[in-house]
Amino acid sequence: MESLKIELGERSYHIFIGSGLLEQAADILAEAFPVKKYVIITNPTVDKLYGSRLKEIMSNSGYAVTLLTVPDGEKYKTLDSAGKLYEELTECFAERSTAILALGGGVIGDLAGFVAATYMRGVPLIHVPTTLLAQVDSSIGGKAAVDHGKLKNKIGAFYQPKMVITDTATLKTLPQKEFANGMAEVIKSAVIRDRDFFVFIEQNLDKIVGRDEETIEKMVLRAASIKALVVMQDERDTGLRNILNFGHTIGHAVETVSKFKIAHGQAVAIGMVAEAKIAASMGIFEKDELSILETLLVDAGLPTEVPDMDSDMILEAIKHDKKNADGKTRFALPKGIGGFYLTDQIDIPTIRNAVGR
Ligand SMILES: NC(=O)c1ccc[n+]([C@@H]2O[C@H](COP(=O)([O-])OP(=O)(O)OC[C@H]3O[C@@H](n4cnc5c(N)ncnc54)[C@H](O)[C@@H]3O)[C@@H](O)[C@H]2O)c1
Ligand SMILES: [Zn+2]
Repeated sequence: MESLKIELGERSYHIFIGSGLLEQAADILAEAFPVKKYVIITNPTVDKLYGSRLKEIMSNSGYAVTLLTVPDGEKYKTLDSAGKLYEELTECFAERSTAILALGGGVIGDLAGFVAATYMRGVPLIHVPTTLLAQVDSSIGGKAAVDHGKLKNKIGAFYQPKMVITDTATLKTLPQKEFANGMAEVIKSAVIRDRDFFVFIEQNLDKIVGRDEETIEKMVLRAASIKALVVMQDERDTGLRNILNFGHTIGHAVETVSKFKIAHGQAVAIGMVAEAKIAASMGIFEKDELSILETLLVDAGLPTEVPDMDSDMILEAIKHDKKNADGKTRFALPKGIGGFYLTDQIDIPTIRNAVGR
């Protein structure tokens, strides 16, 4: 088992990462935590695979555990689901000292995090992420949110968990498409921050795609540390955290124009290539690096080409993106593999050129 410490003053916490950690969850919690009562929030898919087992492990160790489920899917990451959970928490006599254990992917993590941040003005939260995206991205950094109408992720809070327990063995059951989605964020973090890690992914891709336990554990640890370091320097997302948006400015637009038929990770992969082309046109990213990046994404099962969509619609969607400060579109571009360059000075023709087919 490896651990990372997120240093945020009195909001500091540990992320434990290892294969098979669910089996040790009760012991890990016992060492760090005086809490005796837990509510696991999960969905039926994850419940079948890991929920009942986790509940059993914890009950056997003397904890009072209740398990609540929310239907599977982004469309249930809503205030309505939060409302139902508040009622169910009240019914099972959850108190301010009762901890919420968010077991699942980013959807459950965001929703359960939001509920933990707001129920009784805040109860302890523990993330137990079970998708690659959640393990390297959404469980780290304390962003919790629900969707509301057209507002995606805009009703939320910064709410740090007390601990993250990341069992990389749970990734064995993840469908290939979900795994590839997470790989987009893994590759993103390597491109903007860590050239050696990029080479590691390239050299071990067969093992990664084959879900080799040891390799996956190393990869999750490294990607999680990159996110952790960035979050520690910019908890509230006012500066450095922007670098994590590499591939996301164009990616989000592609995702939106596709009416979310293109999954987030796939859209980010497409966005990374388009944004790397912008970087290449500025002379801060080599043409060779561009083709290395494209090859890696394809080998990881991700798309790299902007699909057949109107570039005006993409540009329009970029304009509406929430990351625009003062009406300017901000880009986190790669500066070679392993570096970054933040800018809001990219003109429309350059963007159009990058998304043009
Ligand atoms: N808070 C943040 O900082 C942050 C960052 C990035 C993304 N997000 C949010 O994360 C969400 C996406 O998360 P996601 O990609 O994990 O999707 P998800 O939570 O929908 O999970 C994807 C699918 O995998 C299933 N699943 C989960 N674990 C499994 C396992 N071990 N084996 C088999 N199936 C499993 C889920 O039931 C679901 O059907 C979005 O709502 C996004 O807004 C939040
Ligand atoms: Zn993302």
